[in-house]
Amino acid sequence: MTVLVLNGPNLGRLGVREPDVYGTATYADLVARCEQVAGERGVDVEVRQTDSEAEMIGWLHGAADDGSDVVINAAAWTHTSVAIRDAASQVTGTLVEVHLSNVHAREAFRHTSYLSDVATAVVVGMGIEGYAAAIRFVARA
Ligand code: DQA
Repeated sequence: MTVLVLNGPNLGRLGVREPDVYGTATYADLVARCEQVAGERGVDVEVRQTDSEAEMIGWLHGAADDGSDVVINAAAWTHTSVAIRDAASQVTGTLVEVHLSNVHAREAFRHTSYLSDVATAVVVGMGIEGYAAAIRFVARA
């Protein structure tokens, strides 16, 4: 099985982007960590990032059509996009929402997620280890 790890806007800039909030790990580090954990668990993983909402919606449609499990950090779209929510709602596999930072300890607008109630599980505040935890959960059993 291939677990899709889908990342939204600005996450390609990890490492240089607000390191006090998001840490010093780069996007390449995030991809490597996901691949490492997937390898340990015997699953394939495909890690993607886009700053295009249309592209993310297309990926979610593909996951819905394929029955894929998805780990998603929708970044700012989490708090703004009904379109991303509607696409995520179509995923029938396990859907895990991940945020690097603890969004609940930040600005009030980050406390609302359009995804959490359609997600199977939510992981926040664990940095890139949150992705590792999400992949282990998806790969369970
Ligand atoms: C984020 C949190 C969001 O509020 C923010 O817009 C991001 C990253 C996180 O991983 O902590 O871009 O999803």
